Amino acid sequence: MSVPNSTASPRSASTLAEGNEGPSTFDGSDHLLRAWGRGLRPDADLTVSEWADAHRMLGSRASAEPGRYRTARTPYMREIMDALSPSSAVQRIVFMKAAQVGATEAGNNWIGFAIHHAPGPMLAVQPTVELAKRNSRQRIDPLIEESPELRDRVKPARSRDAGNTMLSKEFAGGILIMTGANSAVGLRSTPARYIFLDEVDAYPASADDEGDPVSLAEARTVTFAHRRKAVASPPRANVTAWRVRALACPSRSAKAAWVDL
Ligand SMILES: Nc1ncnc2c1ncn2[C@@H]1O[C@H](COP(=O)(O)OP(=O)(O)O)[C@@H](O)[C@H]1O
Ligand SMILES: [Mg+2]
Repeated sequence: MSVPNSTASPRSASTLAEGNEGPSTFDGSDHLLRAWGRGLRPDADLTVSEWADAHRMLGSRASAEPGRYRTARTPYMREIMDALSPSSAVQRIVFMKAAQVGATEAGNNWIGFAIHHAPGPMLAVQPTVELAKRNSRQRIDPLIEESPELRDRVKPARSRDAGNTMLSKEFAGGILIMTGANSAVGLRSTPARYIFLDEVDAYPASADDEGDPVSLAEARTVTFAHRRKAVASPPRANVTAWRVRALACPSRSAKAAWVDL
């Protein structure tokens, strides 16, 4: 794609000089140029953990320690969150973990970061659609409501055009679709630059009759050069089938692992 400059075309310059409608004079052209400029802007040079420390609030609906999110409280998550940041070349992060170590919150930090700084279509998958709805109410709504930067970017819940429903949150430059691994329709509903697969051990072997939900979800990302996938699961799931490089996390019984594709 070429970028326009002041010498772009003598014809368009003379058209403008004559007062005719040129490429930068039609109704709404300012808005279009600004949106185009935003699209050309590279993703922020900030890590997900830095973003979380600056902007993330934990709500009382889901957290035992409501208030400001501090990466220092779960320091073993820093490396994982930073692998989810634009500066990292890692495309697939597999987190083999114990319960209650902060994985879902780290994934939610990633969602917040993407809405704020690196927007694109995102698919977040829970084991079932029912759990996806519950996660949306308990975790995603507070994530958005309690960070002004996210509240400003996500369409209000009661807006008429349904940009914000329980299972989809539209924001400038992207959309977060939430679904269950039991719904093939949900998993196929959108191309996705980012996918977050949580609690994979509880996924059914097949989504409806269409096969492995993890493969179905991963297939949504193939057209995105800067795609990123995060998978969180207790060790019960067959996550070791991926060629993982495991890291010990001595402070808790969690193990982090990821693969460079
Ligand atoms: N950095 C943190 N600071 C304070 N509380 C945290 C932090 N990370 C997670 N928590 C809280 O710990 C609990 C477990 O986190 P969660 O992300 O649900 O764990 P997991 O998904 O690994 O089971 C939640 O109440 C969550 O809000
Ligand atoms: Mg969790």
